[in-house]
Amino acid sequence: MTSEITRREWLAGGTLLAGSLIASNIAKAQTVMEPNLNPTPNNAIRAGSNENVYGPSLKAQEAMNKAMKTAHLYDFRSQFVLKKVISEIENIPEDHIAMANGSSPFLEKAGYVSRIQDGTVLAPYPTYNTLSSTARTLGGKVIDVPVDENMSVDLEAMRTAMTDEVKMIYICNPNNPIPTIIEKKALREFCIEMSKRAIIVIDEAYYEYVDNPDFSSMVDLVTEHKNIIVARTASKIHAFAGIRVGFAFAHPETLLLIAGRFNLSMGNVAMQGAIVSYQDTEYQNFIKQKNKESMAILYELFEDLNLPYIKSNTNFVFFKAGRPSKEIATELRKHGIMSGREFKPFTDWVRWSTVKPQEMQYVADTYKKLYG
Ligand SMILES: Cc1ncc(COP(=O)(O)O)c(C=O)c1O
Repeated sequence: MTSEITRREWLAGGTLLAGSLIASNIAKAQTVMEPNLNPTPNNAIRAGSNENVYGPSLKAQEAMNKAMKTAHLYDFRSQFVLKKVISEIENIPEDHIAMANGSSPFLEKAGYVSRIQDGTVLAPYPTYNTLSSTARTLGGKVIDVPVDENMSVDLEAMRTAMTDEVKMIYICNPNNPIPTIIEKKALREFCIEMSKRAIIVIDEAYYEYVDNPDFSSMVDLVTEHKNIIVARTASKIHAFAGIRVGFAFAHPETLLLIAGRFNLSMGNVAMQGAIVSYQDTEYQNFIKQKNKESMAILYELFEDLNLPYIKSNTNFVFFKAGRPSKEIATELRKHGIMSGREFKPFTDWVRWSTVKPQEMQYVADTYKKLYG
């Protein structure tokens, strides 16, 4: 089922040939599934869920295959190794790091914490909604602050919306479904100021993809500011969406709100894979390069059809189709393409995640045929 990435696939990203040449050596080291060139409704190109369609790094796969041999044992010791690896990469003390099976458990628990505190959640809108929807499900109040006219998170409006009842603030940076970033100095000031009044959760699920000098991770803030939590995931650039590894960074006392002292939720196979994947920078560079190639195909489509779009800082795009995204998703599925779901209030905007260049070209060509 697997094979070396094909020359044809490689050349499909033609416009970024220089970068491609550097990455082509890396590509040789990656055994990736063939692109899906015969998509059908039941075997669709996965442009809807912000996954990494290349699969985990080969080295990580090897480590996980090896770990399968002892997968029947209660072996949670790899967490100490993984924590050390992450601590060294991020330059954050090990006692400021918690791990779980994805970042969702941390976002959900933060939602519970907001209810235990009987507080209100403040969040931009639209954004990734696990934390807010958990709080809402438990009967909590959420203040949704609409994005500004550039469709960026509006920190000033969030300041204005702040009340004494707000005990938790969620910010996704880069945001999802709109792949904008928040200017680093403004966000830093906001976090420091607001963390005196509430817990701030910064979700950096897509930060590895950002190639923008105005962006900075907020992870370093956690050593100085007790009320700041940064969430990360291996589901995106590391392709661990189905393997499930995520991290939370915060002061040890704050971490106890959302994580036990000892992590019993992650399997050894996943941890062994993550230990290798986070050190496999070659693989991460390869994925970033392929993401750029597919992104270039989409930008060309949007320019061609004159469709407004948001410059992406992630592995997905958001563009104004000018017709209901639900309708488009139904139609594209008939042609073997999974398109992003509807995101209110931007019901005529569409979110697509990058797939392999040949698949991306098929998505672009199909859209053009249907709506161009
Ligand atoms: C912004 C954001 N945060 C968190 C997650 C959840 O990630 P995980 O797979 O780590 O639970 C996603 C998944 O799409 C996401 O887009």
